[in-house]
Amino acid sequence: MSQQFQHDVLVIGSGAAGLSLALTLPSHLRIAVLSKGDLANGSTFWAQGGVAAVLDDTDTVQSHVEDTLNAGGGLCHEDAVRFTVEHSRESIQWLIDQGVPFTRDEHASDDDRGFEFHLTREGGHSHRRIIHAADATGAAIFTTLLAQARQRPNIELLEQRVAVDLITERRLGLDGDRCLGAYVLDRSTGEVDTFGARFTVLATGGAAKVYLYTSNPDGACGDGIAMAWRAGCRVANLEFNQFHPTCLYHPQAKSFLITEALRGEGGLLKLPNGERFMPRFDPRAELAPRDIVARAIDHEMKRLGVDCVYLDISHKPAEFVKSHFPTVYERCLTFGIDITQQAIPVVPAAHYTCGGVMVDDQGHTDVPGLYAIGETSFTGLHGANRMASNSLLECFVYGRSASADIVAKLAAVDMPLALPCWDASQVTDSDEDVIIAHNWDELRRFMWDYVGIVRTNKRLQRAEHRVRLLLDEIDEFYSNYKVSRDLIELRNLAQVAELMIRSAMQRKESRGLHYTLDYPDMLAEARDTILQPPTYAD
Ligand code: FUM
Repeated sequence: MSQQFQHDVLVIGSGAAGLSLALTLPSHLRIAVLSKGDLANGSTFWAQGGVAAVLDDTDTVQSHVEDTLNAGGGLCHEDAVRFTVEHSRESIQWLIDQGVPFTRDEHASDDDRGFEFHLTREGGHSHRRIIHAADATGAAIFTTLLAQARQRPNIELLEQRVAVDLITERRLGLDGDRCLGAYVLDRSTGEVDTFGARFTVLATGGAAKVYLYTSNPDGACGDGIAMAWRAGCRVANLEFNQFHPTCLYHPQAKSFLITEALRGEGGLLKLPNGERFMPRFDPRAELAPRDIVARAIDHEMKRLGVDCVYLDISHKPAEFVKSHFPTVYERCLTFGIDITQQAIPVVPAAHYTCGGVMVDDQGHTDVPGLYAIGETSFTGLHGANRMASNSLLECFVYGRSASADIVAKLAAVDMPLALPCWDASQVTDSDEDVIIAHNWDELRRFMWDYVGIVRTNKRLQRAEHRVRLLLDEIDEFYSNYKVSRDLIELRNLAQVAELMIRSAMQRKESRGLHYTLDYPDMLAEARDTILQPPTYAD
């Protein structure tokens, strides 16, 4: 039997953004935080590098803002960048207060930086400003915030719950547009439950799983973006998919990232013959922004017909490497690669969705009562290319500002009345799950081949044709069979892929992460690609 729940705030997603929002709401509110699988399965847990912030006395807000604008290829919204950076220090202080064990700087007392934690460097940053917990920052942050959330009786952490769709007044045929909660599959019962809420928050991460090769965990399916789109929210700049330049290339190493901080601490990119190549592409060499480094690697791999390039930090003392990068060291060792002695084989892989659901500084979407935060959202911070470690920062800054906004609106918003249950009367059990598996593979492969690091009009047209066929097939399946996690994710991923392709086709230039052989130059005017859903325009 399906169930009905009511909460003041429903948070869909249990990563950095969702947990920081939940933890900064008052303790008298009933909050549900949903996770599709186990709580630790999201992208936050896997983040290695750290959080970019203006922390020591030798750095400035202006410098962080300028670096972000430079990396963003003219498309960052300067007001959003400034808002984020200006709130960076207090967000880090909040994390420190929660107990996050950031790496301390052994030499802090020897200088006058005014800050006791170690700061590393990553691409595009002109300053050391990445606070981190060795090379497992996401795990340290997630574990700390989760422990805090577990101590809060008003926060229910619900695992194995997959949101199917948002419930809006419009969907129910009522006057108005307000979001009233969500239909959610409980994987343990197979039932779709109804979650009513005064405020609903999408914090579901990005959509890098749309590509065959990705650094992301399995859940990165663009769920929040697809649900918001179906509910009537505009989305923006979905053509900008960031490929992380350095994922471990090994047949058994699924999605293992080699953190950019390794290049920040002196790691060099090399061809199979040992020659460095990045200085030929950019004066910043290995520390150029990610779009430039990923494209250079792609170029060299295609030019030489090789399967990977190499990232070498073996010239640094072994103790330095092991203490700064214990996770990378241990993981590579399990594949027989001793990074203190040899170079690491690496390839680019899909890493971050720069576009998303359009929001303002408080995370408001176009649908009243619905917020989007973190990678799901488009705040204008990342422009055409996200700068390393700005994304975790965005999660905390916007998680906290959305939380403050909810508090300010509490008195004006009542609990929704009883909502209709999910109607499963017309569907049966699927007897052809092979279709879902096949469509997953097909989607991810053509997105990799046709909508990847280098694009052309023809490739995009091919992808558009295929995604439309897939969407029709998925729709038919969805109308006739009971929902499962695989089907819900595939439906979302195909929807987001279609939006990505459409956005890429609209951009008649190359800028940041969007590079097309048909329009290799950048236009003088920088414009966002904004897509309006049919329901919103009606
Ligand atoms: O390379 C990294 O550690 C990733 C950082 C990021 O994506 O911000």
